[in-house]
Order: sequence, then C-alpha cells, then structure tokens
Amino acid sequence: MPIAFDERRKIFKLDAAGSSYLIGIHEDRYLAHLYYGAYIPDDNLTDFARRREYASFSASDPERKDPSFSPDTCPFEIGGSGTADMRIASVAIRNADGNDVTDFRYVSHRIFDGKPALPGLPSLYEETPGDCRTLEILTRDDTTHAECVLRYTAYEKYPAITRSLTLKNGSGKTMEIERAMSLCLDMNSADFDLVTLYGRHNQERNFTRRPLSHGLQGIASRRGSSSHQQNPFLALISRGGGEDHGEAYGFNLVYSANFLGEIEVDYNESARVILGINPDDFGWRLAPGEEFTAPEAVMVFSAEGLGGMSRAFHRLYNHNLIRGAWKTKKRPLLVNNWEGTGMRFDDEKLYAIAKWAAETGIEMFVMDDGWFGRRDDDTSSLGDWFVDEKKFRHGLGAFIDRVTALGLKFGIWFEPEMISPDSDLFLAHPDWAIGVPDRKRSEGRQQYVLDMTRKDVRDYIFERMKDILGNNDVSYLKWDFNRNVTEPGSALLPPEKQKEFYHRYILGTYELMGRIVDAFPGLLVENCSGGGGRYDPGMLAFSPQIWCSDNTDALSRVDIQFGSSLCYPASVQGAHVSASRRSSYETKRNVAMWGSFGYELDPEKIREEDRAAIREQIADYHKYYDLIHRGDLYRLICPWDDPYKCAWEFVSEDKTEALTTVLVKFRTEGRNFFLRLKGLDPDKTYVFEENGEEYSGALLMNAGINLFGMPNEDGYSKTLHFTASR
Ligand code: DGJ
Repeated sequence: MPIAFDERRKIFKLDAAGSSYLIGIHEDRYLAHLYYGAYIPDDNLTDFARRREYASFSASDPERKDPSFSPDTCPFEIGGSGTADMRIASVAIRNADGNDVTDFRYVSHRIFDGKPALPGLPSLYEETPGDCRTLEILTRDDTTHAECVLRYTAYEKYPAITRSLTLKNGSGKTMEIERAMSLCLDMNSADFDLVTLYGRHNQERNFTRRPLSHGLQGIASRRGSSSHQQNPFLALISRGGGEDHGEAYGFNLVYSANFLGEIEVDYNESARVILGINPDDFGWRLAPGEEFTAPEAVMVFSAEGLGGMSRAFHRLYNHNLIRGAWKTKKRPLLVNNWEGTGMRFDDEKLYAIAKWAAETGIEMFVMDDGWFGRRDDDTSSLGDWFVDEKKFRHGLGAFIDRVTALGLKFGIWFEPEMISPDSDLFLAHPDWAIGVPDRKRSEGRQQYVLDMTRKDVRDYIFERMKDILGNNDVSYLKWDFNRNVTEPGSALLPPEKQKEFYHRYILGTYELMGRIVDAFPGLLVENCSGGGGRYDPGMLAFSPQIWCSDNTDALSRVDIQFGSSLCYPASVQGAHVSASRRSSYETKRNVAMWGSFGYELDPEKIREEDRAAIREQIADYHKYYDLIHRGDLYRLICPWDDPYKCAWEFVSEDKTEALTTVLVKFRTEGRNFFLRLKGLDPDKTYVFEENGEEYSGALLMNAGINLFGMPNEDGYSKTLHFTASR
C-alpha cells in the first residue's frame, strides 16, 4: 500500500519504490514534514516535528499550548506567510483586509487510487490501473477562510512523488494569491550540494554543483518560458556523493513559464526547498468560491547518487508523462532542411533533399521555417500561415504528394505563438501582440509574441494550423518559440488582473497545444524553442520529443546531452547529424544516436565517402533504437568530471545488452584508459561484438575494457556493443 494513514500517531506515510515520505498532523493541526529518503518500514517519527528547542527571536505558536514549540523551527509541508514560521513562504494570499498573513492548518484528507488530472495544466498520469495512489489533504486558514488542498501522488514502480496544490477562496470577499509554490520541503539536513542546469542559446543545460550554504540560493526564470538560462530542475546530492553513490533528491517542475526554485538554509541547519511559479510578476485574483491550481512538482529520491536519480526520472517520464500515439511507437528517422538551406529554398531544392533522404533510407522529410508568407529571412511573416506560392508553384499539397510518393512521411514547422511586425496579421490586429499601454515593444529576432491569453487569438491560430495540417498529409509538427516575453500585458485583461498575464499566457499555450494534439492524434509533435529553450516536463506532456539545441557540433553538444540527461530521458532528445565540420560523421552519429535521431543538412555538400557512411549509420540507428529509447542510461565519464573525454552507456532493462560510447574531446598525453562499465549483471557473460571475446559482467564493471589502443585524437569516438551469451 503506497499511502497509509496511522490514526493513532496521525502520520501519513507515502512509499514509492524504495523511498518513503512522512507527514505528521501536529497537535495544533500544522502539517509537519517528518522524513523524506530511503524506504523505512515503520512511522514512529512523531518527535521529528521538533527540531531545536524554542530560540530567542523565534516567535511562539499563537495557540501557546506548548511553550517550547515555535513554528520557526518546525518542518512544514506548507510555509505560511507573515506567521511565526519566518523562512521563505511557499504560499501567500493577500486577503480583503490588505494583509497577506497566511496560515493553513489540517482539516481532513482522502486517499484514493490513481491520480486526477490538473485543470488546464499538464501533469503526470496513471499509466496502468493501480500504479499510483493519491493523498489529498484539505487545509484551511481559520481566519481568512482560504483553503489549500495539497495533493501527493506516490508511484509504485518508481521512487517518485508528485505534488500540486489547489487554493480556494472560502470567504465572501476577493483575495489575491501572491505566492503558490507547488513544492515546499523542509529537509532534515543541509549537508548537500545543489546541482542545477544553467545555459544559453546553443549551450543549454550545463551541469553546475555547489555546496548549500546559509541563506538563500536557487534558480529562476522571468522570461515567460522555462528558458535556456535555467532549467526548472534542481537536485540535492549528499556531500561527497556522486554519480553512483550518495543520497540524491531531484526536483522538477511540470511547467513551461516563469518559475522559481529556491533553497533557504536556516540557522538550524535545515534546508527548505520551494519550487513553483515565480512569485515575481505573478498574482491571481480569487473571487469568492473560485479556485486556483498550481503546477505539479516532481520529486525523485535515489540512494544511488545522481545516476540512480536520473534513471528513475527517465523511466517515470517515459511511462507516466509522455503520452499519445508516439509514446512507444518507433519514431521515424528524419531529415530536416534547416541547417542545409535556411529559408532560401523552393520546392525543387527541398525535393532534392527528400530524394536523397529516400535513397539513403531516411523515413521522413521535415520542412522547416520559410514556407509561408514572404518569409525569405527572419524579418517578416510570422502569423501569416499561408503557403508561399513563389516557393511552391504547384501548391503545398502537390509538393507533399511528391515527397510521400518517395515513400517518406512529411513534417512541417510552425511558430504558432509569434507575430512579425511585418506581417498581414499584425497589420490587421496590432492588439494581438503582447504589450503594455504607451510603451514600445522590445523585439526579439525581429518578432513579437502573440497574446496567448486571448481565446480569439488562439482560435485564429488553431484554424490556420488546422487548415494546413488537416488538408495535407502531414505526420509531424515542429512547434518552435524563438524569443522570450517582454512588456507582459494583454489588451483584454483589466489592470487588476495584469499580474496574471504570464500564467494565463502559458495556460493559453497549453490549451492550444492540447487542441492540436486532440485534433490530430496521429501527429508526432517535436517541441523546440531556439533549440532547447522550453526543455521541460510541461512541454513533454504534449510532445514526446524536444529539439535539444541548435548547437549540432557533436563535441560541444555532447555536454548539453549529458546535462539534459540529469532528468530527461534519451527518447525525448531531438538529436541530429549536421554538416558542421569539426568531427567525423561517425562521431556526429555516435553523439546524435543518444536521442531521437535525424539529419539536418544539405546533401549536396556531403562528400561521396560520407554518403556511404551515412547509409551504414542508418542501419545502426535501427539496431540500437530500442536499447537507447527504452534502456537505462549510465553516465560513465561525465564532462563535468573530465574535460578531455566522456563516455556513456545504455543497458537493456533485462541486462542482456549494452551499448557504450566513448568520445575523446581533446587529446591528452600518456594516460591509462580502462573503461569500467556499469549496470550489467555481474553473473552474466557478455560477448564483445568487436572481437567476439567473452567477459563476465563482473569483469567489465570492475576491471573494465582496456582502451589503450584506441586512437587518442580530438573528436575520435567509438561504440562498444555487448550482448549476453549466458
Ligand atoms: C530555431 C530552431 O531551433 C531551429 O531548428 C529552426 O527551426 C529555426 N528556429 C527556424 O527559424
């Protein structure tokens, strides 16, 4: 039973595949956090609600039943605002009296099988009946009559718990939510390092690690998207812990807009972790009786370091987040024309790429930006989703027919949330672009952002997309988003609701994405935001894959893939071979195979010998597809530990097959190189495909493979394939 309530001790115990999470109801009805970590069989932790004795300058509990108790030292599930708990608040609601003192106490609870969907928001789901169980705890502020329902779901097969909350105005007057953090976790210790993923366009999700220290630290986005700059992911790893050892706690927000992940280490050496919508630029008015649901936060625990944590995230997301026809179906091997042609193409140029693709064994042709309006460069036409008849002289349908006659599927690019100042759409509807009165709009890539809070805007874009997707044989959609939001404001929102803009924006985007996915259930959607600027679990609920980065140079992209793998599975990672010159086609392929593989180039520029190599590469793509998409990832040598070389490995779930890739980023002199594998069955015997030799799993994991003879050259890479013979 993954969730139980101990009536006598008033303790909730959530067990999720080797992890336990305990919540206590304090005598004054506070919801106390008691424990989160490796599985424990019993729940005798009532006294864990007490940390230190009452301290000077820690205010007492207003009930004053226990003079030694202060909310300032108690670990909570909700961090109130303006109360005697003086750490960072997780929830703050300004009431009709103008103050934002917020203090939620336990009222009732219910435990049930499965997991409800969140209104308007993407979230994880129950994959098979009984694979998860949910606890809902109703809490109330007895003074303001605001209510908060905390919702926890524990997963049977994965060490994961998801959490969200719904706030309700139970009073007769309007209230304003100032802060509604999805996660609030008071860790029992602050002896952790904080791991986060920072970056920029072309270099997303770099790994960084720093010790927690007293005070505030964290990550945030105020860009209107989850962003290239900080991913809505953070992990705590015990000091001295690493890839394979130490306690690792991973936190990820199922949300694609402004977020805040913050940790406060207090004077008691406890660490409060909060994660949710960024309270800067956020407010939400709640009329009497209205509700607001905050996005879902995912918590994963592993006693086997960051590697164990990542594998748990990967399996959880592959099974309980990604959905739709392409969840398990083999994704087509594609070629995209973007890096080959940019926007300078016509039907004949694209047809030549498609023809080469069909002859090479590629399965889908994707037409990127530049097919609509007057889009010969990035200064115009976003929003004018009508085919450019100069480029497609016989119409788009006729062109698609030619492509599909080659035996290829056809995919198309859209950037639905954008509008060019130089477009017919902007001429007709200048108020459809986001902006605020009397202030000029900033441009990003010469474009503005459409006001997705507006239903009329969404309806229009939906109809245009439906026209193209529904009247043509289209199998794939690339949904791009190439700038961040500035001057946030909607012409339709009254002044007192303008602070709701950012959240309403992403709700609008989710609504439109949901409509497209529902209208075209067979469509494979790949999310993109100038590469991986919205690489988050919110987007994964609509698109099973995300274009990882515009950086297709294998030697630097590999770092992005390592960083992304902290919590995102290989199956979601759009990864292409391009013509970038720095490395061989073999290395480009070896790196791009760690994901949803494809090509992105102009075949005219490929040398004859490389053409043959590409044909061979395609055979390997098919050979290893299941292993990479469904297997477990082991990071053997990480770029954040070794700047010269890196290695990674996929092991099948039944441990009968492993594919290891090793890449020399920069040559170094005179070092031994014994590559030790991970995740194998020590008692199985594996055949090394390269030489037919047999090795035990124990040997491969403890002694390793001696790679002394491997070429020590910048950009050299190789794959090592092992299959169990017995
Ligand atoms: C940014 C994407 O990341 C690229 O792959 C490409 O689609 C361009 N946008 C097109 O404008």
